[in-house]
Amino acid sequence: MSRINFVINGQERTVDVDPKMKLLWFIRDTLELTGTKFGCGMSLCGACTVHLNGQAIRSCTTPVSMVAGQEITTIEGLSSERLTPLQQAWIDEQVPQCGYCQSGQIMTASVLLAENPHPTDGDIDQAMSGNICRCGTYQRIRRAIHRAAQEV
Ligand code: FES
Ligand code: FES
Repeated sequence: MSRINFVINGQERTVDVDPKMKLLWFIRDTLELTGTKFGCGMSLCGACTVHLNGQAIRSCTTPVSMVAGQEITTIEGLSSERLTPLQQAWIDEQVPQCGYCQSGQIMTASVLLAENPHPTDGDIDQAMSGNICRCGTYQRIRRAIHRAAQEV
């Protein structure tokens, strides 16, 4: 066990944890933040995407030791009171089908918009290409990102 400090969704935390534990399981099982999903466990699908210091990462292959002293945001912490324009656009465009991949999709899309507030279709397809949706919501995702881009 190792003692690590980090900030998650704006709150400072200090925990004793196996440093080799994957961040995904730490978030879900220890912190009980279950919005982040397990898909492949191999950095291939994007279901487990969270932010580490504002960058999208795959929590399923990230050891928790890597977040020591860092700042993590999960889908639960993306907005504090009101929905972000991106989340509202997701609702307005009725993006989710089964919903399983959607927190990872939103976490990736929010980094895209932070770095590129008015992305083209090509920008969106490139940025989102690592997030797999078995329900095929890609066209709706694209529309929602464009819609959110008009709000910012
Ligand atoms: S569960 Fe992490 S990328 Fe698939
Ligand atoms: S909404 Fe079902 S996997 Fe994407």
